[in-house]
Amino acid sequence: MIDLAIIPVAGRGTELLPLTKSQPKEMLPVGGKPVVQHVVEELIQCRLSRFLFITGPGKTAIEDHFDINNELIRYLRLNGKEDLLTELAFEREDAEYFYTRQRHQSGLGHAVLCAEPFVHGHRFVVALGDTILGRYTSSGIVKRMIDLFERNSSEIKGIIAFDDVPRQEVIHYGIAKPKESSSDFFELDDIVEKPTAEETPSTLAVAARYIFTPDIFDYLRRTEPGNDGSIQLTDAVRLMICDHKKILGVRLPPGEYRYDIGSFESYYKAFLDFAIHDPIRGNTMKNFLNQKK
Ligand code: G1P
Repeated sequence: MIDLAIIPVAGRGTELLPLTKSQPKEMLPVGGKPVVQHVVEELIQCRLSRFLFITGPGKTAIEDHFDINNELIRYLRLNGKEDLLTELAFEREDAEYFYTRQRHQSGLGHAVLCAEPFVHGHRFVVALGDTILGRYTSSGIVKRMIDLFERNSSEIKGIIAFDDVPRQEVIHYGIAKPKESSSDFFELDDIVEKPTAEETPSTLAVAARYIFTPDIFDYLRRTEPGNDGSIQLTDAVRLMICDHKKILGVRLPPGEYRYDIGSFESYYKAFLDFAIHDPIRGNTMKNFLNQKK
């Protein structure tokens, strides 16, 4: 049974300065919740229950957010604000949270390698903490990936979620070269990190969710760092494919949007979309925006 998700949150978030000068980008609000709470709620809905955050400098707000704040709970009770306790219900979800620090900023592959001592030979999910899938916890992609893995567990070493992006955007993502493709999933023939629009093998971009067997760790150790010293997760997957390990790709279905919090433009889009679809305040926000047109 796959119940562990590794959530890398160590990136500096320099594209979002000064917003991210003293707060993690994963704690920026999208609608009424921080980005990383949307991510964890999506994963809980996909039946994951143990979360290991790979953190770095300046990320302690994430630990505080998922901790139980007894002082705040007592304050709300004593001051007749019990209705607000529902906003803290996520603290008491039946989930366990663990934290370890990536002590060198050496890329996503290195961050995943930091999780090795927690994995104990089991398969695990990797979910990037700066990307929300599905509006308001509506994505079941990780659950479908887990089911696919469990049906084919003896032969597959990894499954990766992909999203079709405009060709000019491939430079921001890991891009798949699929073998023959069915509607639901495909086998990877290759994968390339951040190709140019001219060289790209497709427009299928890695969408921040992966499942791996612990085999990935050996390949991460063998992966050469790039020019900037980073070890790319994509390059380790590429080594696995070269070694004839079977890695599958799954497409995000239409309507399960990907909200990437990597730049101001994508962050603003995510915030606006969640604000106008907020179950309580959404209509007010839509009216406000219509009046401003
Ligand atoms: C990382 C991965 C890339 C992936 C992207 C979004 O890139 O290296 O393959 O497509 O996340 O999931 P980053 O955004 O850290 O540059």
